[in-house]
This record gives sequence, C-alpha cells and structure tokens, in this order.
Amino acid sequence: MVTPEKLLIERLAPAFARVAGMPADPVLRRGRHADFQCDGALALGRRLGRDAREIAAEVLRYAELDDLCSAVRINGPGFVELTLAPTALGRLLAAIAADERLGVPRTARPETIVVDYSGPNTAKEMHVGHLRSTIIGDAAVRVLEWQGHTVLRRNHLGDWGTPFGMLIEHLLDVGESEAAHELSVGDLTGFYQAARRAFDADEAFRVRSRERVVALQAGDPTTLRLWRILVTESKKYFMAVYARLGVRLTADDFCGESSYNDRLPPLVEELAELGLLRESAGAQCVFPAGFVNRDGEPLPLIVRKGDGGFGYAATDLATLRHRLRDLAADRLLYVVGTPQSGHLEMVFATARDAGWHGARARDADRDDATPARAVGRGAAGPRVEHVDFGYVLGSDGKILRTRAGASIKLMDLLDEAVTRAAATIAEKNPDLDPDERAAVARAVGIGAVKYADLSGDRRKDYRFDYDRMLSFDGNTAPYLQYAHARTRSILRKAGGEAPSAAGPLVIREPAERALALRLLAFPDVVEEVGESSDFHRLAHHLFALATTFTGFFEECPVLRSEGEVRRSRLILCDLTARTLARGLDLLGIETPERM
Ligand code: ARG
Repeated sequence: MVTPEKLLIERLAPAFARVAGMPADPVLRRGRHADFQCDGALALGRRLGRDAREIAAEVLRYAELDDLCSAVRINGPGFVELTLAPTALGRLLAAIAADERLGVPRTARPETIVVDYSGPNTAKEMHVGHLRSTIIGDAAVRVLEWQGHTVLRRNHLGDWGTPFGMLIEHLLDVGESEAAHELSVGDLTGFYQAARRAFDADEAFRVRSRERVVALQAGDPTTLRLWRILVTESKKYFMAVYARLGVRLTADDFCGESSYNDRLPPLVEELAELGLLRESAGAQCVFPAGFVNRDGEPLPLIVRKGDGGFGYAATDLATLRHRLRDLAADRLLYVVGTPQSGHLEMVFATARDAGWHGARARDADRDDATPARAVGRGAAGPRVEHVDFGYVLGSDGKILRTRAGASIKLMDLLDEAVTRAAATIAEKNPDLDPDERAAVARAVGIGAVKYADLSGDRRKDYRFDYDRMLSFDGNTAPYLQYAHARTRSILRKAGGEAPSAAGPLVIREPAERALALRLLAFPDVVEEVGESSDFHRLAHHLFALATTFTGFFEECPVLRSEGEVRRSRLILCDLTARTLARGLDLLGIETPERM
C-alpha cells in the first residue's frame, strides 16, 4: 500500500538520480502553498554548483507526475510545489478503504523487540511514574505488534534487595494471612510505612531485618516462602490495576529483578575477564567511558557492593546481557522516567564496552550482509533506547501527591476519573441504558487519563487535571471518542455500513480534499511513531483528523447528497471512523459506538 508521499518520492527519486548522476534525496515534505513541497533541487544545486531552479526544471522533465499531480510549480529559489490530482486522491482513498489495515503495511523486516515497562515495586504503591510507564509502554507494544514485530513485554518488577528484610519481619509481626489480605486489596503504602516505622523505632526489629536479608540472599527456604507471599499478593494488586487500565500486560510478563539472580555471578565473571571491573571504595565497579562527575573523575557503576550484595545496576546489566544475547533482541525499549537516564546510559554504555551487541554487529561485516539487514539490525547492532518521560504534576504544579503528602493510591486515581466521566455521560446522554453507560464511562474515564499522558511530548512534565482531560472540547480523549461516535451515527443513519469502495472516490470540495490528505497520511504517521515512540504525534494526527472531519461535515452534506458524491462522502465518514478507532486503539483507548 502506498501513501501520496511515498508515491511522489518513488517518482521523483529516479529523476533526481538522473540529473545528479547518483542517488539524490528529493527532500519531500508537507507544503504550505501546495499539498507537498520538494526541496531537493536546492541541495543538489549547491552540490553541483548549478542554479537550483534549472535543476528543478530538469527534474520535472524526467519525473512521471501527470497521473498524480494536477499542478506542479517551481517557486522561489527552486522549491517544487506539488498539488495532488483529485483523481489520484480518489484512487488512493479507494485503496485504503478496501484495506482492513487502512494502508498501514505489516513490516517487511519483523524484529524481536523487548519493551521494558511498568516496573512497580513489591509491597509499595505504584506511583504515577509507574502509571506513565505503563501507559506509554502499552502504546509502544500496541503499535509495534500491529506493525508485525515480535514484542516481548517485560515487567521489571522490583522484588529483591535490602527492604525485603524489613518487609518480611513486618509480615511475621502482623501475621501471614492479615498481611496477605492488606497487600492484595492494595494497601501497599500502609504496609510499607508500618514496616518502615518499626524499622526506625525498634533496634531489635532492625537486627532481625538485617539477618532476614542475609537469609533471603542465602536462599533459606522459610524466608523464600515468606518473600513469595509478599510478591504474589502485590502482583494481585498490580494485575487489578492493569485490568482497570486495560493494558496488554499479563501475569506472565512479570520478569522481576529476582529472576536474574542466577545470572549475576557469570556477569561478574565476564566483566572481570574483560578487564572492565575495578575496585573502588570496597565495591566492584565498572567505569563506562565518557561518564564523569563535575570534577571530571570517572563515574562508577556499582556491580557488587562491599558486602558482596548486588544492587539495581547489577541486575540491569545482567538483564540487558540476557536480552541481547539469549533473547537475541533487535531492539530494546526502556520505558522509564527521565531521572533514571544517567543510570540507564551507563548500563547501555557498559553493554557496548563488553561487546554484548557483538553478534549482530558481526552480521554487518559478513559478505552476504544485504542492505536490508544493514539498515534493520545493521552495522550498529541492536538498538537500545531509553524511552524517557517527565513527571506527573498536580494542579499546583508540584509532583502529584495526595493532600496528606503520601503518594496517591493509583486505583483511586483511576476510579475517580471513571466516576467523573459517568456523571458527564449521564448528563449528556440520559437515554443510555445503565450497562452501556457504565461501559462508556469506563472507556471515557480511562481513555482520558491515557490520552492526557500520551498527547503531550512525553519528555515534558504534564499536569494531571481531571477537568481538562475529561472535557469534551479540545485535544482530549472524550473529544475524539465523541467525534468517532458521531461519525458512526451518521453511518447508521445512512442505513448501516458504508458502501463498498468500488472505484475511485469523487473528491471535489476543498474540505473533502483536506480530509482525504489527512486520511492518507495515517500510514506514515504510524511508521514514524513506531520509530520514535513519540506517541503525541499520533495523538495530534487524530485530533487534526477529527477537526478536519468537523470542517468537512459542516461544508459537505453527506446524507442529503446523491449518487457518486454521496457514496464518496459516506466512505470518507467510514474511513474517518475507522482511522479514529484504530489510532485510538493503538494508544490503548476504546471507542464506544454511542456516547
Ligand atoms: N522498579 C523501578 C522503579 O520503580 C523501575 C524499573 C525500570 N526498568 C529497568 N529495567 N530498570 O524505579
């Protein structure tokens, strides 16, 4: 399936190559004065020391554009402005209308992609940072899976380390079944804080806790059994949050820190053999190249602490080594907040120093390495990316917490969004029956939370504001969901399904044209977002689609039109509804039929 952009490049590239005597980029982009603008003649003019307008004219002599463009114009110093012919738009639209994937191709080079996201900590409330990671990671999983990649979801649960001494001792003090109950219903904060209080107040408790950590690390069976209660019950709560959110994470995706324990000693061994391990202040450390503190001294990444214990960094190193070597991942996404970028960069750099990307890198040196391979798994080896994101702020502009200063219980946060959505829906559409209303409220409330997160540049902090995210005006989930429902209702009024796309669509009015161009750009947007993990670009595209549709619907009667025009407009409605539904689904957001 081809988009206008790809089609134009396909036609322009050979013409450029002919003029240049070698491949030359047409540099095509969306135009301001026409649908598209091609700037390649300027760069080529500089390279060849020739007038860009002359080059542009020559390119246009060679390029086959007659069936695609209704107007082609050289402007300014040598820009080429291209206006697509209505017949070409009509043909392309008929093609995507007949395609259940709306023109989005399955990838020709499927990769194995690990997405590391959510990552809450046992016996501790999930905070809004984990919520962001869960929402962004879920969008990544949905987009990449839909593109046809093999996605391995990894929930790097914090389930190991020194706090478990104190948590297990507290569990014994309150009694196993009482503790299990507290955790599974989600009173993780209460449990954790009580353990912390005992630890701070009671010397005997501290001693017991420290001994307990030693027993845990030594694999003492009783201690392990108690530890497992903490992990199992916490997981139940996390699973309930995931179910409420409607994300694809399953119980099988938990791959907690503890599951890498056996991989820690061989990790140390290998780093030592490679000569990467050095002792610093009693600890075994690596010093990845390029990381220094303010005084210019190399920064350590602690692999093994002075007391022989392993920490967060060691686990992350063992995890990355496993994913690159044993899982043979082509690409890894770490959906983790920006504050951890220093940590992750050092882990990634250590992996490069240790040559764990190696197997893939060697592929590129082989004689049979095809160009496709060089691009996909290429000379640079697998891609390891930190998909970072900023903080969630409250309406006061500070990091979001409850009034008491404690962290918010995540489930309550989500429930509140659904409750508020239910009130609005009851007001807007009192005729919905209670079951449908509840389902719509859930879709709108949860959708609003997700969309508020995904519609801004993830690197920036965002303000958690129920009123704004639940508004039916502006760039919000309810606005888009409503636009979808309205479009579906037009189709229902027209007697059910859209007419099948036999033959090109008729595109005449400017508003039809604008809508056509939006719809045809969807595949390029999905492709771009699959690369960049910048989901706000998809969100913005859907928002622009919905507003363009509104303009179309105001100017172009659909139900009152006739013949070919009616058929075409109904197909435009149907394509809009399908694109909104698919696009929102890729962001993890449901689209009710009625609202
Ligand atoms: N449990 C960690 C935290 O709460 C997040 C884990 C992120 N993933 C990773 N591989 N380090 O900060």
